[in-house]
Amino acid sequence: MFTELSKLSFQGTFGREYVWQTAKKPNCLLAGTILGSQVLRVRLLRSSRLDNTRYQLADGGAGTLPYHSWIVAKGDEQWHETGQLEEAIVRSILEPYLQGWAIAPDALRLTRPLASEERVFGLGERTGTMNKRGQAFPIWNIDPHKGHGPRTVTMYTSIPFYLGLTLNDGRAHGVLLDHTGRVDVDMGNSNGSAASMTVQGDSLIAYFFTGPTPADVLKQYTELTGRMPMPPRWSMGHHQCRWSYLSQKQIHQIATRMRERNHPCDAIWLDIDYTDEYRNFTWNTSTFPDPEQMISELHAQGMHLVTIIDPGTKIDKHYAVYQQGIEHDYFCRFQNGELFTGTVWPGACVFPDYSQSRVRDWWGNLYQPLLQQGVDAMWNDMNEPAVTNLLVHDEPTAETKTNTMSDDVLHQAGREQPTGIDGPPTLHKFYHNAYGMEMARATYEGLLHLRPDSRPFVLTRSGTAGVQRYAALWTGDNTSQWADILMAMPMCMNIGMSGVAFVGVDIGGFWGASNGELLVRFAQLGALMPFCRNHNAMGNPDQEPWSFGEPFESAYRSAIETRYRLMPYLYTLFHEAASSGAPIMRPLYYHYPQDEQAGGVEDAFLVGESLLSAPIYEQGATSRSVYLPAGIWFDYWTGDEYPGGGWNTFTAPLERWPLFIRANSILPSGPVMQFVDQYPTEPLTLTCHMATDGLATYTLYEDDGNSLAYQQGASARTDISCRVLKDFVTVEIEEHFDNYRPSREEYEVIVHTGGRTLQKKVQAGQGKMVIRL
Ligand code: GLC
Repeated sequence: MFTELSKLSFQGTFGREYVWQTAKKPNCLLAGTILGSQVLRVRLLRSSRLDNTRYQLADGGAGTLPYHSWIVAKGDEQWHETGQLEEAIVRSILEPYLQGWAIAPDALRLTRPLASEERVFGLGERTGTMNKRGQAFPIWNIDPHKGHGPRTVTMYTSIPFYLGLTLNDGRAHGVLLDHTGRVDVDMGNSNGSAASMTVQGDSLIAYFFTGPTPADVLKQYTELTGRMPMPPRWSMGHHQCRWSYLSQKQIHQIATRMRERNHPCDAIWLDIDYTDEYRNFTWNTSTFPDPEQMISELHAQGMHLVTIIDPGTKIDKHYAVYQQGIEHDYFCRFQNGELFTGTVWPGACVFPDYSQSRVRDWWGNLYQPLLQQGVDAMWNDMNEPAVTNLLVHDEPTAETKTNTMSDDVLHQAGREQPTGIDGPPTLHKFYHNAYGMEMARATYEGLLHLRPDSRPFVLTRSGTAGVQRYAALWTGDNTSQWADILMAMPMCMNIGMSGVAFVGVDIGGFWGASNGELLVRFAQLGALMPFCRNHNAMGNPDQEPWSFGEPFESAYRSAIETRYRLMPYLYTLFHEAASSGAPIMRPLYYHYPQDEQAGGVEDAFLVGESLLSAPIYEQGATSRSVYLPAGIWFDYWTGDEYPGGGWNTFTAPLERWPLFIRANSILPSGPVMQFVDQYPTEPLTLTCHMATDGLATYTLYEDDGNSLAYQQGASARTDISCRVLKDFVTVEIEEHFDNYRPSREEYEVIVHTGGRTLQKKVQAGQGKMVIRL
């Protein structure tokens, strides 16, 4: 039974927190603070006294949480004080957020009003409709049943953050619960006008982001939870993966075929099959006799190699990783000290306790031999953690605690130094959603440490709020079926709206048999998603780009070539995500927050501000209906102009899908390459799509694509503008090449306006250029 907190009386300030107490039983406190100008925090504590301990109170001592959990990247001390705001003003700002808190003997709840027009987005990786209003579900990471679909209860990555958008005025706000245990979310399901989030324990911490635009909310949210560092450029290319590339010879064949058949590709991935009976950090030396040779051949072809590493560590007293972990006590144990064991691919396993920095450091260093052999990046899988080696899981069920670690495992965190960076020991039930993220962190930090001059690239299956700091995400084991193309869009848009910009799905579908048409349409979806990887399960028919012959092979190639042409545009978007938290793949409401119809579009997405992609997701379809927001849109393929503000049907023969360019925008592009760093982008084409009489501006971002020098400002920015006034067309290019100079001779400027196409080549490197066309 929950008791709503009422009759709050202000007690005073404690540090930067403003503290209120309930007059009645149960005794508890609300402490609120303003961080920056648009982020507020309120925490509810089941206690009558606020002392300066950093920790949440939970489960009476054993299993406490640091009050900044693993989610938060920016602690209180890093926020500037908001100046000398008068106490009365701060109180009046915080007071609206003191309503809706409730307490039960073992749980705490926050309830926020939902405005009648409000839609609810974000909440991480979830199937089903994009707007989560009316739904109730847990935030609890699991490896879901085989063939996840609209009714799947919860997935590999869940994020206790939502963005509320009121479509009539276009205003957005956000709410994050800083909690890595289970959160029961009810977005207007039991009460149509209220959103509630419930946790167990003795403390509930919520952050509020005031917006007012969706972009502002994301900026505020990622200031708190961190942003994606720039990944290496090659990771933005097309990747080829397969569960059951069984030998060095096969890898050689796949890579060679990619090149012979001109399918752009930047990386080949090795799934669990490369290992010695699924022992992490080992090779099956009979099938992969010379990894170094294999990798250097790949590198010579302009390919990278990514290898999988799971957390489950085989119990085998002859296996060095197991021995080290036992010797130093690195594996998870129950409260009573017993080792936690579970079955994964290698059989009985133990699991590293990534809550401890000493364990993360150890794990991070285990990558050294692989890196020395030339492996470029890492893929962390099964890190919910999944405790199963069954291919067919149970049917969907509301019971979400099966097939993962037990609640009463005690993560040691800072052990006897609970006030250190890791905090105090924490029960798994409070740590659970952080497990995958902290594994990815161990990997990311390990790679950074071992190769300090290169940008790490890590792909993870599991994570929670903040995982964008360490890894890209893919949505796990989808199915080779049409519904999964459609399902991918709202899911990945919501992941982007939860701060994780670098996201994608298995192109072609993972479970089941793909076919030529499905594979092509999947590739057209993936071609403009941030992460672009073809992956397939063991036992299925092949689905590499050539597997189904013509006309499918050519159509697949053409989709991926479109991605490579647009690489300068995508790269700039990755940089925007890294600097402001903006998603790369965006729901239409992101740029059209007041457009009622745009708010409901789930089967198309914006790539940045200028491109709208509407993939085909029905078998046999050669056309589909697309909503274009207000304004004028150009067909990417034909250059035809269409007025926005409504629905239209567009044709889509197999080799194309509806793709549009917003009028008055500038799109940078380059030549098709077989891998992103094959040569400098030469010429750099700047295509201006102009409505008659208009102005477009754009800033292109470039850097060396691989090192960390961009963090010291080694980057190039090129400001471009295009103005059309009656018959006068002027393009201005202004280069800022202070610390990094792209190797380039020429710009090719193309302007489409009023049915005409104007074109000119200009020499690069002049600083500022004014071009009249
Ligand atoms: C999991 C992953 C999948 C991988 C398989 C084998 O099911 O989600 O991508 O291929 O494990 O490692």
